[in-house]
Amino acid sequence: MASRPPLLGVNIDHAATLRQARYRGAHLSAHAEPDVTAFAREALAGGADGITLHLREDRRHVQDADVLAIAALPGVRLNLEMACAAPMIEFALRLRPAAVCLVPESREEVTTEGGLDVAGQLDRVRATTRALAAAGIEVSLFVGPDAPQVEAAVAAGAPVVELHTGAFANAWKSPAAETELARLRAACELAARRGLVVNAGHGINYDNIRAVLTLPHLHELNIGHSIVSRALFVGARAAVAEMKACLGRTA
Ligand code: PXP
Repeated sequence: MASRPPLLGVNIDHAATLRQARYRGAHLSAHAEPDVTAFAREALAGGADGITLHLREDRRHVQDADVLAIAALPGVRLNLEMACAAPMIEFALRLRPAAVCLVPESREEVTTEGGLDVAGQLDRVRATTRALAAAGIEVSLFVGPDAPQVEAAVAAGAPVVELHTGAFANAWKSPAAETELARLRAACELAARRGLVVNAGHGINYDNIRAVLTLPHLHELNIGHSIVSRALFVGARAAVAEMKACLGRTA
């Protein structure tokens, strides 16, 4: 276990998913519900250490205006998830968020399904990492817990990796969960040995987080769906505070 609890990045894409279920394609008036910026504000009040938004190329949930409004909130540390694609890179260079996490994107997927194939497109990822880093943005690469991808992240010059915990989360409460956790543990060890900051995310919830917290060297966890789901019952502020309590910190 890390010597201090990891930070909590709260991914609020699904607050925007709920809004877009009603307003997709429509002009977003000030009355469009739920108010995604207000959700971010409440998440921060609940103790979120950062807000994560995935601006997808098809804009299916988060809109440009959400990113701009949330980036302007006082004290927010914004982590922008995006594809390694020219229009997104231009957007990030204009906005200069604190952090960018490069993720793979396919239009058919419901949510980010696999890690970024850094090894298979090293030159492109390296060039993007350099351009973003030169603008003062901390670059993280979302990769599967596999040694070749972690090594490729080092070769790409990224200071941070976010390890994909989706396979572990899918296997939770089945015999395969231990195997997936062992893969994650090995990837955490390797990434830390190679000097990378280690984040993790995808499919983490209020239950399986117990197992995730046994992983070494974790700097930050990015959690979205479970927190937004819990927020339907208790509100965003309390949902985040409860997750912070799970992390061993209180809001
Ligand atoms: N990290 C990354 C890179 C992601 O793409 C996502 C999903 O958007 C998450 C974390 C959060 O996953 P979840 O919504 O399952 O908590």
